[in-house]
Formats: sequence, structure tokens, C-alpha cells
Amino acid sequence: PSIAALSDKRVLITAGPTREPIDPVRFLANRSSGRMGFAIAEAAARAGAQVTLVTGPSQLTAPRGVTRVDVETAEQMHREVLARAAQADLFIAAAAVADYRVAAPADQKVKKTETAQHLELVPNPDILRDVAALSDGPFTVGFAAETQAIVDNARRKLTDKGLDLIAANAVGEQQGFDVSDNTLQVLWSDGQATLGPAPKTQIASELIELIGARLDATG
Ligand code: C5P
Repeated sequence: PSIAALSDKRVLITAGPTREPIDPVRFLANRSSGRMGFAIAEAAARAGAQVTLVTGPSQLTAPRGVTRVDVETAEQMHREVLARAAQADLFIAAAAVADYRVAAPADQKVKKTETAQHLELVPNPDILRDVAALSDGPFTVGFAAETQAIVDNARRKLTDKGLDLIAANAVGEQQGFDVSDNTLQVLWSDGQATLGPAPKTQIASELIELIGARLDATG
């Protein structure tokens, strides 16, 4: 019943990794498959929402009825998300956005030499933080991939980024990235819940249901 809260709502979701170019043929990236974000998009669409999925490079096929926006870099993802966030009712940031990009990507392929090479990295914009800071913006949901003190770190991130809800998962050996099963600790200002361990598709449905209930509760 709580999922009715998502019917006809505009839901914006990020997924996948970002790619940060070093030169025309090389990039920095991470192991994100996009599975969690795509599964959330599917669950939200099934709940009757109008879903836009802004995704970094992923082998996955967008669920039926979902509008897919493909991006490569964090800056492109930031631009595409911020262009749509004010009109959204709910924003879920499931992308594994690269924290840094190469300061000055080379125009031509970098040649091999016998000496050490150094890459200067500069911080990327924090998409989730910027959406959460919008006045009159959407209900914002973030993820936190943690290797330790999962709940404490996630609660700090919830407060620090000004989120409405955060879903934390353990990453590391056989957990989190590029695997199908997951456990989530979900936290909000005055509550928490544990989802799983279960396949990411089931976790996604349960998370959407929980978000629907929070949307109902907060009006
Ligand atoms: O701070 P941290 O990277 O751990 O936060 C993770 C959460 O923030 C995820 O929801 C991720 O999608 C989002 N994020 C973002 N833009 C960034 C970095 C993280 O939207 N540049």
C-alpha cells in the first residue's frame, strides 16, 4: 500500500561508474556494474513512477518504460542530474561517482617512457550533496559503501550531506560491487532498518517500498 506513494511521481536515479579520461584511450574508473541502480529503476517503474536513469557506462539494459540518459564522466552526470533535479519528487544516487578526475586530460595518447608518470587529480562535484542542498528539491536518498563502522559512517553522511535517507552497504571481500546479493542498512533521521541479505533485485523492491513509506510519513 505504501508504494502507492510513488505512483506518477518523478523519480531521478543515478547508476553505474563514471569514467574519468586520462587521454583519448585511457580512463580512471571503478568496479560498479550499475546493478543496484538499474534494479531500483525497475522497482520504481513497477511502482508506477516516471523514472529517469542517468547512468555511467554499464552493460545492463534499461528497464522498460525508463528514460535512460547515458553519461561518462562525473561532470556530465552532475550536469544531466542538476538539469532535472528541481522537477523531480525523489532523487536516488546509486552511482559510484569517481571522487576525482584528471586535472588536465591529454589531447593525444600519452607515450610510454622509461620514467615515472604523475597524474594530478582534482575533486569532482558531489552530485548528491548539490541535489540535497536545493531549496524545495526532491526527497534525496544516498548510498554509502563502507568497509567499517557502517552505521556510524552512514549516519554521519546522512547528516553531513543533508539527506532524507541513506542506504549503507558493506564493501570489500565478495560484497557490494559487481555481485548480485547485498545487505543494506537503511537510516533516516529517526529510524533505521536492515534489508537482506538478498539479491539486489529484491533489495531494490524493499528499498522502494521503504522510501514510499517515508514519503508518506513526511508528506
Ligand atoms: O561521499 P560518498 O562518495 O561516500 O557518498 C556516496 C553517495 O554520494 C552515493 O549515493 C553516491 O552516488 C553519491 N555521490 C555523488 N557524487 C559524488 C560522490 C558521491 O552523487 N561526486
